[in-house]
Amino acid sequence: MSNDSSRIPGFYRLTVAERRGELRLRADLTEEDILTLERGGIDTATADRIVENVVGIYALPLGVGLNFRVNGRDVLVPMAVEEPSVIAAASNAAKMVREGGGFLAEADDPVMTAQIEVVGVEDPEEAEVRLEAATDELLALAHATLPRLADRGGGAREVEVRTHPNRVIVHVHIDCRNAMGANMVNTVAEALAARVAELAGGQSGLRILTNLCDRRRVRVSARVPARVLAAGDLDGPTVRDGIVAASRFAEDDPYRAATHNKGIMNGVDAVVIATGNDWRGVEAGAHAFAAAGGRYRPLSIWRAEGGDLVGRLEMPMAVGTVGGTLKSHAGARLAQRLLGATDASTLGMIVGCAGLASNLAALRALATEGIQRGHMALHRRGQAIPAGPAAPVLETRGQ
Ligand code: MEV
Repeated sequence: MSNDSSRIPGFYRLTVAERRGELRLRADLTEEDILTLERGGIDTATADRIVENVVGIYALPLGVGLNFRVNGRDVLVPMAVEEPSVIAAASNAAKMVREGGGFLAEADDPVMTAQIEVVGVEDPEEAEVRLEAATDELLALAHATLPRLADRGGGAREVEVRTHPNRVIVHVHIDCRNAMGANMVNTVAEALAARVAELAGGQSGLRILTNLCDRRRVRVSARVPARVLAAGDLDGPTVRDGIVAASRFAEDDPYRAATHNKGIMNGVDAVVIATGNDWRGVEAGAHAFAAAGGRYRPLSIWRAEGGDLVGRLEMPMAVGTVGGTLKSHAGARLAQRLLGATDASTLGMIVGCAGLASNLAALRALATEGIQRGHMALHRRGQAIPAGPAAPVLETRGQ
């Protein structure tokens, strides 16, 4: 087996030290990296520089999602999460997807949007005309605010005007390249606010990014041969049809859609957190997008196609590979190296794959034996920590 494969059979049976040894082989980890894994990525002094009123560090378990193949490339997926079974279940699901060729993923350009609100506008329609006529001026102002972004191939791309009664909102769409982009977008929003208010004939209101970054979406699909879905007494086609029925339930019912999407966010957030990104922003974007059509919908759907099970996920994905926490958090930098994602779009696609894998694992469990058996086995393992060695658990089999 080549060292860049994400298949590491029996990984779960190794000790933590042996698992780190495997990672050393695969990702060129140094002694320093191993210490980073041991210490959790930051010390108290660093924490004290990152946020306020620091009294300590709050740690989460960091594991690796295995078996992921994304657009033909194997990736080890770092996942930081406190919930038992999320990592094992995602790894199991990724193995099933691998049987169908792996995940296919694509990403939009990394465009984030600044919102500039103008209030007290007497004639919003006229304001819209004046603002649209000033598009070039506003784009030039935005470029002048972020001159280095253009050198990296990014920059302000488009101005869009939206009107409400008495209020005008100007959106400036900005390609942030490999940054998550919140700082850049907020800088542009503040820099343009006075001129926008003047053009609109009102008073400057809020100026801030929107987390509904629907121009920065990822789309992920997975094809799973029905035979690999078989579980216990249930054959593959029966499980496939159960997963499709579960998808339809989420499509028909917002209460179920919320839980379906929670299962997706189990995988999404774990990678977003491990890689030092703003998971609250990703969460806000995901749920706003899910509700954007006026009714809350699942972020993924599953169908039977040509006998196989096919899943498709689409969601906004504001993640970066530069800036933010990465400057200060050695653990986040290490997680990104492990992943081998050098650009934000690739990272976003992998995050989406972790989400679809988690979703598949949850739906398969729900369509078969339910989630409690495996979940509780892993939960007991957590409870047993002070008492002694871990009991064998269900979900890790076949990882
Ligand atoms: C639990 O963390 C996630 C699930 O509830 C997701 C789902 O119901 O699809 C199992």
